Amino acid sequence: MLTRICVLVSGGGTNLQALIDAQKDGIIKSGEISLVISNNPDAYALERAQKAGIQTAVVNKKECSSQAEFEQKLVDVLTENKIDLIILAGFMCILSENFTSRYPKRIINVHPSLIPSFCGKGFYGLHVHEAALSYGVKVTGATVHFVNEIPDGGEIILQKAVEIEEGDTPETLQRRVMENAEWKILPRAAEIVSKEMAMRKEEE
Ligand code: GAR
Repeated sequence: MLTRICVLVSGGGTNLQALIDAQKDGIIKSGEISLVISNNPDAYALERAQKAGIQTAVVNKKECSSQAEFEQKLVDVLTENKIDLIILAGFMCILSENFTSRYPKRIINVHPSLIPSFCGKGFYGLHVHEAALSYGVKVTGATVHFVNEIPDGGEIILQKAVEIEEGDTPETLQRRVMENAEWKILPRAAEIVSKEMAMRKEEE
């Protein structure tokens, strides 16, 4: 039985696109992207999902009166859709322990640096690349890891290094890290974890 995957997004969704393409190309073969949830109703990622014929949902954090209400709404949609694996792909909301403890080893995240560098609270999107450039590191990259109660602190699944080039700006570096690292390791990690979960489902 295929692992049912939900991808959580907030913005452009290039990582979601990499997952959709990987499913089409057979790189992801043990799971199927069954649902895409965005916290942002205007996320372009929603259009990418719709174009690929994937069901979408919006859980707008701004319309929730608390973190607990936001997370309960997410749990409701995930449960309704019998989701096995949650992939955070450019999802810009922190999830509390109340949420993450419900899904041990069932949530993965892609982060645009080599953890444990430039990660944790405040390190997201372009800020990560600004920090790497201002520190002066010569190598950065991306990490896919399990999500637990510590922001960017869960077990590492895959990492890939990317060299900094002279004249890099946060934008050029972000693009190279996405192309050379994130879009490659996220689909591979999705398959590794989906395969393990699919095998476990069959044993049950
Ligand atoms: C990606 O670089 C992703 O790694 C990063 O935001 C970008 C989203 O792009 N995520 C984080 O910083 C999470 N801590 P996308 O919407 O085009 O996939």
